Amino acid sequence: MKTLSYILLLARAAVSQNVIDLGNKNWTLTGPNITVPGSAPSQAHLDLFAAGVIGDPLYGENDTELLWVQRSNWTYSTVISNLGQTEDFSTWLIFDGLDTFASIEFCNQFIGNTDNQFRQWYFDVTDIARSCKDEPKLSLNFGSATKIVKEIAENGDPLLNSADGAPTEEFCCKEYMRKEQSDFGWDWAPKIAPAGIWQPARVVQLDSASPVYVRNALIDIFRKGQMNNIPPDQSQPWIFNVSLDYLGTLPRESSLHVFLDDARGKFILDRPLENTYQSTNTIEGSITIDPKLVDLWWPIGLGSQPLYKATIKILHGEKTISEINRRVGFRTVVLNLLPVTEEQQAQGIAPGSNFHFEVNGHEFYAKGSNLVPPDVFWPRVNETKIRNLFEAVVVGNQNMLRVWSSGAYLPSWIYDIADEMGIFLWSEFEFSDAEYPANSSYLAQYEEEATYQVRRVNHHPSLALWVGGNELEQIMLSYFFDPESPGTLLREYEHIFLELLIGAVYSNTKSIGYIPSSTYNGFLSLNFSSTMPQLPRYHNTSGPGYIYADTDTYNYDASQAFNLSSYPIGRFATEFGFISMPSVYSWKQAIPYDQLFMSSDMVIHHNRHYPFGGPANATDRELSVLGLEEMTAAVQNCAWCWTTQVFQADYYTSELAFYRRGSGMPQRNLGSLYWQLEDLWAAPTWSSIEPDGRWKVLFYRAKDIFQPVIGHSFYNSTTGDLEAWVMSDLWSPVSGTAKLSWMDWSGKPLSGSNKPISKTIPFTVGAINSTRVFKTNLLRDYIDLDFSNSLLRVDISGDGVTPNESQKKTYEHISFFHPESLGKAKIQDPKIRVSHFAGAHNFRVEAKGGVAAWVWLDHPLGVQGYFSDNGFWLARGKQECPIYSQERLDKRRMGGGCSS
Ligand SMILES: *[C@@H]1O[C@H](CO)[C@@H](O)[C@H](O)[C@H]1NC(C)=O
Ligand SMILES: *[C@@H]1O[C@H](CO)[C@@H](O)[C@H](O)[C@H]1NC(C)=O
Ligand SMILES: *[C@@H]1O[C@H](CO)[C@@H](O)[C@H](O)[C@H]1NC(C)=O
Ligand SMILES: *[C@@H]1O[C@H](CO)[C@@H](O)[C@H](O)[C@H]1NC(C)=O
Ligand SMILES: *[C@@H]1O[C@H](CO)[C@@H](O)[C@H](O)[C@H]1NC(C)=O
Ligand SMILES: *[C@@H]1O[C@H](CO)[C@@H](O)[C@H](O)[C@H]1NC(C)=O
Ligand SMILES: *[C@@H]1O[C@H](CO)[C@@H](O)[C@H](O)[C@H]1NC(C)=O
Ligand SMILES: *[C@@H]1O[C@H](CO)[C@@H](O)[C@H](O)[C@H]1NC(C)=O
Repeated sequence: MKTLSYILLLARAAVSQNVIDLGNKNWTLTGPNITVPGSAPSQAHLDLFAAGVIGDPLYGENDTELLWVQRSNWTYSTVISNLGQTEDFSTWLIFDGLDTFASIEFCNQFIGNTDNQFRQWYFDVTDIARSCKDEPKLSLNFGSATKIVKEIAENGDPLLNSADGAPTEEFCCKEYMRKEQSDFGWDWAPKIAPAGIWQPARVVQLDSASPVYVRNALIDIFRKGQMNNIPPDQSQPWIFNVSLDYLGTLPRESSLHVFLDDARGKFILDRPLENTYQSTNTIEGSITIDPKLVDLWWPIGLGSQPLYKATIKILHGEKTISEINRRVGFRTVVLNLLPVTEEQQAQGIAPGSNFHFEVNGHEFYAKGSNLVPPDVFWPRVNETKIRNLFEAVVVGNQNMLRVWSSGAYLPSWIYDIADEMGIFLWSEFEFSDAEYPANSSYLAQYEEEATYQVRRVNHHPSLALWVGGNELEQIMLSYFFDPESPGTLLREYEHIFLELLIGAVYSNTKSIGYIPSSTYNGFLSLNFSSTMPQLPRYHNTSGPGYIYADTDTYNYDASQAFNLSSYPIGRFATEFGFISMPSVYSWKQAIPYDQLFMSSDMVIHHNRHYPFGGPANATDRELSVLGLEEMTAAVQNCAWCWTTQVFQADYYTSELAFYRRGSGMPQRNLGSLYWQLEDLWAAPTWSSIEPDGRWKVLFYRAKDIFQPVIGHSFYNSTTGDLEAWVMSDLWSPVSGTAKLSWMDWSGKPLSGSNKPISKTIPFTVGAINSTRVFKTNLLRDYIDLDFSNSLLRVDISGDGVTPNESQKKTYEHISFFHPESLGKAKIQDPKIRVSHFAGAHNFRVEAKGGVAAWVWLDHPLGVQGYFSDNGFWLARGKQECPIYSQERLDKRRMGGGCSS
């Protein structure tokens, strides 16, 4: 059977297109002093690890010990024995990604050099293939990126770069190369710069029966008349625009045909594309689609995710000469940066400009986090890993991830998973925290890269936005800005981010918006016929009281963590956070037993906050200790790993609640994406999920505070003002009650005169809004309140309907407030009792003796799973019944309930 299907497969491949997947080839990897079996896609470190030559590069201090690997050249070679060598064939080598500096030879002849990890490379090797007398050997000699870039930098114009500090080989000059910038170290990442064929590669042979190969495809689905960055008219029909990049020779008067089926294979339409246009390397065309034929795609929580299978055929006469398949969705998504209207101001929104997303014409609250590369080595990131991670995102009530630059553009299969799961991906070009060279050869690289990427991922409904890069405008405005005489730096910034990259977006797609930088003060005007379509606002504001931008703020002074006045006021929070330790389980996988203490050499080595290679007067060790001390200050006198996680979770909860409350404040905050979702190695970082998938306390608490309807108490320690608020991001009002229960740490209600009184207060909160349900002043109104023995529990219960599906639902939420820090509170033994229902993954946790703060259930090493709730609080006599889930999301099992 196996043989038969193999033959059938070959036969099918032969009639359509002769494509030889280089991933199936027997590769050899040769380094300075060693030869081992290689693979593709892969990187030298991975193949050396697989061959047992090196240990795990992420273990202990191996990253430093293995620097020789990244300082060496590595050659990948293979023989393409099944190459067709007749005169009929034209032959192409196509690499979807090479990391990064490679010199390529085929049949012992030089083919070309590469210097950009982020673009597709393709070479016409027809003549060489025909005349190849020896065996058709392909070899790629990868140079040391760290060495090469240092040479480039030394020979080029020195760039001003505040982030670089002392230029050592590992840290110097990453902005001079188009390679994953975090390979050169970041404050949560080791400095490991891999090399190899990191994306799929193939040989394609074309002949008269199959004269073209589609190497990249753009599908743009938008509302008729839609323009980038502007909310479209939702009553318009869909335009389905296709543009294919092909290699080979397309017969004149070829045509395009589209077939659309729904996910179950039901026929939707079958039509020739109109307005076709054909050039020497692209063919394009479009059709108009009646909106009644298709259902809208929504992010998770706001509706369903219908997807459609699109097949595009290139026809010559009746004959199909090439065909591609893409899964698509129908939605509009816009980051609305337009001026706040008078109508909005009448709703209490401060003047300035908007900064919020709208899906299918509805504004929504973006809840999520920042995605960093899930591994130092992308070729080993597999579907299981991403599905587990994205499942956590969905269970965690998040609907958006910011795909941070500067990792790498996500492969299409990851967008596919996001499409299925309903996770919006705010996507960035790979430029970060630096000034980038802007001479013509670099500009050509940026253009090639951006065009390839924009066209490659545009059909995914999960694509939410393109962004030029990370924190660029903020840096420009803080350090280099001079509006009177725009210097070279500003000019270059504008050229790359406000002319070139935006051009790559606007000229290819109408469905997606663009901003030049993750932090952005927005634009003064939008003019599609200008070379700089967005005229940036910069500091050109209308004065105090006007709000324009998103925020990106860190405060490492732990004493300010719960001072709400220290939080920024903005329309959208793009980054914020504080580091915590990974669990001891992660450490055990990453360092030896005798290093498992808080200031061991290896713990210090893995901590990169503050980043290594920083100011010349501080050693890497001193920089690490400085960061670790901030964490210590936050949790003094407590058990180390876990307590840093509690502090982190508490701090983020406070920030997330603050931003969500902002939806009903003049700033009209409509998004909070915390830094950072996950980790690529065991280290003290801002992450909420550890490298093996284990959830930190933060992830559980973010899941809680990201629920649609929540309550939270806000305390101003300067004034003593205490307020309880209800926040909702549903699309219609929610009515219910807020029950305020004051108690001491033993769990008994506070009693006596001059004590706050427990009560139940009715509330109604509007669509995507917040409302204050209670206000008091603890310093003025309750003179003899013992702060160290007082607690407020707020129970919210409200009736609402789910967006789009309009199902009635009662939303419940519990939160606790303690006016004194836990370190000084009169905490009593809560006498926790845990029971387990035999044969099930259900637990019951009860507090018999007092109020239990931060109740934590642990699971052993090696199981991929999570509890339905964890890190929660329990009032005396109350119980919680967390369920442990090891499988993919099973919503029925997540319901909770204290029965087995
Ligand atoms: C792979 O190549 C090596 C070296 O050329 C050879 O010894 C080995 O047999 C090959 N393996 C396969 C599966 O073709
Ligand atoms: C290869 O060379 C590097 C650097 O000189 C050295 O660290 C490594 O141990 C060598 N490996 C082998 C297998 O000889
Ligand atoms: C790296 O880590 C492994 C554990 O995977 C260890 O056995 C090895 O000796 C370490 N060192 C190097 C240089 O690979
Ligand atoms: C190392 O690789 C680079 C980039 O491909 C190449 O230019 C250089 O010649 C190589 N050096 C050696 C010694 O192979
Ligand atoms: C939020 O609710 C308040 C109180 O009902 C209302 O005045 C305000 O206009 C609402 N805000 C928005 C943006 O709808
Ligand atoms: C996927 O990657 C994980 C590590 O993240 C690994 O444990 C697992 O075995 C891989 N699965 C497959 C099918 O390769
Ligand atoms: C807390 O009170 C002080 C003093 O009135 C005030 O300046 C500050 O804005 C308040 N903070 C918040 C977040 O309301
Ligand atoms: C390094 O120099 C800066 C600026 O002069 C100073 O603030 C800092 O304390 C110094 N750091 C160390 C570790 O000496």
